[in-house]
Amino acid sequence: MIQIEEKGNSMNRLAPSILSADFSRLGEQVSLIEKAGAHIIHVDVMDGHFVPNISFGATVMKSLYGKTTLPFDVHLMIENPDQYMEEFVTDNTEFITVHTEACPHLHRSIQHIKSLGVKAGVSLNPATPVSVLETIIEDLDLVLIMSVNPGFGGQKFIPFSLDKIKTLKNMKDKRNPKLEIEIDGGINLDNIKTVTDAGVEIVVAGSSVFGAPDIKKRVKEL
Ligand code: DX5
Ligand code: ZN
Repeated sequence: MIQIEEKGNSMNRLAPSILSADFSRLGEQVSLIEKAGAHIIHVDVMDGHFVPNISFGATVMKSLYGKTTLPFDVHLMIENPDQYMEEFVTDNTEFITVHTEACPHLHRSIQHIKSLGVKAGVSLNPATPVSVLETIIEDLDLVLIMSVNPGFGGQKFIPFSLDKIKTLKNMKDKRNPKLEIEIDGGINLDNIKTVTDAGVEIVVAGSSVFGAPDIKKRVKEL
C-alpha cells in the first residue's frame, strides 16, 4: 500500500472523480489531472442496487495502475461492500470508504478495511445525520459527507451539508483530530472555499473538473 506522508491535516487535497471522465481516454485524463496538480483520484463504484446507477468495478480502477502515482480514494456505493473491498486494494489505494446505510455491521466493516492495510472511511448520505458516527468516530480515518444524493455526477450541492460539516468538525476536534473530512457532490469554483473554511480537507470534484473546457486550468483553479 502506498505510504502517505502524514500531513497533519494542514493541507487540503483535491480529488477529481473519474466518474465524469471520458472513459475512452481514461489513462490520458488521469495523467492530465496528475500533471495539473490534483492530489488524489476519487473512484466512484456503483452497483445499480445501493444507488440507481452502475459505474465500473475494480478492473477499470486497476487499469490505471502504473499510469499514475496518485493515491486512489475508493468510494463504494454498493450493497454488501465487505464482499468486494479486497479487490480494490492496490499499491495506490489510500482509502476505502463504505456507506453507513449499506453496512448493518459498520464496526466489522471498518475493521475489515483496516485489516487490508488501507485507511478506513465512512460515507453519509444527505439524509443521514452525523450523530450516527458517535460510537465509531475514533475508529475512522475519513468521513465522506455526501452533498448530493449518490448515484450521479453533475448534481447541485445540498446547502444543509454545510451544517453537517460543521457538526462533524466539532466531533473531530474533540474526539479524533487526525480524522479527515471529505465532501462529495456539487463542488465548484463558487462553493469550494466555503466548504474548506468549514473544515473539509479532501474535496471531490467530478463534473466541474472533467466538464471544464480546459481540465488542467480547472484543476489549478480549484
Ligand atoms: C456521486 C459521486 C460523486 C460524483 C461527484 O454519487 O459519489 O463522486 O461523481 O460529481 P460532481 O462533482 O459532478 O457532483
Ligand atoms: Zn464519490
